[in-house]
Parts: sequence; C-alpha cells; structure tokens
Amino acid sequence: MGFVTQPERPDDHNPITNIHRQAFGRDNEGRLVHRLRREQQLLLSLVTTDGDKAVAHIAFSPVTLSGSSRAASLPTGAALGPVGVLPSYQGNGLGLQIIEAALASDAITQTPWQVLVGEPSLYGRFGFGAASQYGLKCEFQVPPEYFLLRVTPGIEPPVFEQGETLHYHKAFHSV
Ligand SMILES: CC(C)(COP(=O)(O)OP(=O)(O)OC[C@H]1O[C@@H](n2cnc3c(N)ncnc32)[C@H](O)[C@@H]1OP(=O)(O)O)[C@@H](O)C(=O)NCCC(=O)NCCS
Repeated sequence: MGFVTQPERPDDHNPITNIHRQAFGRDNEGRLVHRLRREQQLLLSLVTTDGDKAVAHIAFSPVTLSGSSRAASLPTGAALGPVGVLPSYQGNGLGLQIIEAALASDAITQTPWQVLVGEPSLYGRFGFGAASQYGLKCEFQVPPEYFLLRVTPGIEPPVFEQGETLHYHKAFHSV
C-alpha cells in the first residue's frame, strides 16, 4: 500500500500524541500539538500513514513579532514543530518526506517565511538558514545557529529591524 501523507483527521489525534511520545520519549510535544489544536492554532498538521497506522506527524503554527512600532503589522510566517517519526520507522526518509510535503502545501507556501529551532544540518537542505542573517531574534534563549528561517521560494527575503523578535504561540512556553 505504501506511505500516504495527508492532513490530520479526528481519528489521528491519539496516534499523533503517541508518535511524539515515542519519538521524543516524553509527553510534552504531544501535549503541545493537542493544545495548538484546541486553540485552533494548527496552521498545518500532516500525518503519514503506513496502511492504517500513523507513523509520522508534522505541525506548523502561526507566530507573532514584537520589538518595533511596525512589528505587529509585518507579514508573519509560520513555525515548524514538532515533527516526529515513530522510532521503528526512523531512518527511512519519512522525516524528510513529511517536511518536504509540508513545505509544498498551500497552507505553508502562502506564508512568506518559516522558522524553527533545530539542527542546521537536517533543515539546511530545505533552505533553512540562520534567522540572524535576516536580523530576526527568537524569544527563546537558543544558540543563534539553531534558530533557522527559510524564505518561501519566489518571495522577497525579509529584512528585520534591530530588536525585532519572533514569538511562538504561548503553548510552546510549556514545552
Ligand atoms: C528528526 C526525525 C523527524 C527525522 O526523521 P527520520 O525519518 O528519522 O529521518 P530521515 O530518514 O528522513 O532522514 C533524515 C536525514 O536527516 C538526518 N537526521 C535525522 N535526524 C537528525 C537529527 N536529529 N539531527 C540531524 N540530522 C538528522 C538523517 O541522518 C538523514 O540524513 P541523510 O539523508 O544524510 O542520511 C526523526 O528522527 C524523529 O522523530 N526524531 C525524534 C524527534 C525529533 O528530534 N524531532 C525533530 C526536532 S522537532
């Protein structure tokens, strides 16, 4: 039958929690997805299934900007995360596939840029680079090389002003 990637459906909610529990070895990320869903902050939620088994999941949520008089009126992007693959399915290209599918989706190509906190070596292949080169800071204290931004192809790269800071949805504060 092969792997199928599509937007989450109600039957996927518990399997998504399970994917993240197993992938991250804790409950935080699954709870985060649940809270984003409850607060209608899932800009995109894709699931990969193997037959009727959900094996990979990725979420995107909206972000906000602060730090300047214009920040609230700037076009904003989307935050990638979490992304997880069931441990027994890892290392087979499913992670790359679901990230690629998400970035190609209408929901995400309609945003001017995407951010995440993660491994530059993993996400660099999708065009993510240090957000600092665009002048953007992250609300979280993370090493700058891990706070990454990707510009949607065909969109003019953003230029942020000194002090402009990216904020995730508040649900991320409890991860
Ligand atoms: C990260 C994750 C989603 C990748 O999915 P996957 O199906 O295992 O990865 P793939 O088989 O598609 O391969 C991804 C590529 O990235 C690399 N990669 C995988 N995990 C990586 C990591 N944490 N850091 C850097 N590179 C990584 C792989 O080596 C592979 O590289 P290659 O193509 O040069 O061999 C998956 O391993 C996972 O769920 N990990 C636990 C949760 C997690 O850390 N999520 C990401 C942070 S939000």
